[in-house]
Amino acid sequence: MVRALARAGKGSRMDEVWDPAADAAGWVEEAEAEIQAATDPAALAAVRTRWLGRRGRLTEALRGLGELAPAARRERGQVLNRVREAVEQALAAREAALEATARAAAYARERLDMTLPGIRPAVGQLHPLTRLRRELEDLFTRLGFSVALGPEVESEWYNFEALNMPANHPARDMQDSFFVDVPGFLLRTHTSPVQIRAMHARGGALPVKVIAPGHVYRRDDDATHSPMFTQLEGLMVDRGISLADLKGVLLTLVRALFGPGTAIRLRPSYFPFTEPSVEVDISCTVCGGSGCATCKHSGWLEILGAGMVHPLVLANGGYDPDSVSGFAFGLGLERVLLLRYGFDDLRPFYQNDLRFLQQFARGSEGQA
Ligand code: DAH
Repeated sequence: MVRALARAGKGSRMDEVWDPAADAAGWVEEAEAEIQAATDPAALAAVRTRWLGRRGRLTEALRGLGELAPAARRERGQVLNRVREAVEQALAAREAALEATARAAAYARERLDMTLPGIRPAVGQLHPLTRLRRELEDLFTRLGFSVALGPEVESEWYNFEALNMPANHPARDMQDSFFVDVPGFLLRTHTSPVQIRAMHARGGALPVKVIAPGHVYRRDDDATHSPMFTQLEGLMVDRGISLADLKGVLLTLVRALFGPGTAIRLRPSYFPFTEPSVEVDISCTVCGGSGCATCKHSGWLEILGAGMVHPLVLANGGYDPDSVSGFAFGLGLERVLLLRYGFDDLRPFYQNDLRFLQQFARGSEGQA
């Protein structure tokens, strides 16, 4: 039977023994076998072409009908049409099945497992200096201070003269400076010029209560001195301000930074812009004051400079030194970090090595 079909398919015009029912069943069976064997759309399309294409077996057979006598033609035509219907149905069914399989495979391949843990994005963190600055801004704004900023390229007048350091004053030597091409300007050597700017900005109003954090520049470069570093200036001007006010604010400051048990000691010192001037020490953050290598067995560590604002500085800021007074202080933020974390080298804070900086994860600040 299958052999008879094969002959018919090869254009024998089917003039051999003709058993319509058996032949039809054979053709359908053969087509279905090919259809089932096709495992992808391209193979299936090839089967369709082989049977139903312009030169396909069924097409050829149908074309051959014209050569038959009318009665045979009708009979054979009906058989061939049934075959074609069956083949078309089988093709459509297989097509749908392949499509469904492909879709199921795609679903399986593309399935998202919503229960998988996510990929944690690498979130940066603020530099320890930035966090310290913000911590101090929070502290001082709670004490009623506001934050004042000044330019890093500053005039000699604001940086020196206004602060009682006239040209050729030996005190300028303490702050080896970077001068710029514009005569009369330099990279500010401290944040103290913002004292003058803040007083000017208040225009004589009272009180003046500001802190001024920012970068400062000096021709210094060793393990504990960087050519650029960060200071925080404090200034309070009002009627009747005394050293006691300074001491109270400083005690609040160092206890916030180094813990509630921290003590301070004021030592007489000299700054041109304060009178009297003091050097402020804190009880050693390592031994607590009993004496160790860190504090060179003194029990104290130097932390900042401060004093009562010099009358000339008040006058340069537009205030009458006979009716108001004030205190000022200047704190080096890098020094605070070194003391807090027990380092003796500040350079790693500027080298952007993440292995170093990542140690200062959020919340790791606290008492040394
Ligand atoms: N400007 C000083 C410096 O950079 C630090 C300083 C000392 C600031 C005493 C002050 C102060 O406001 O009163 O070395």
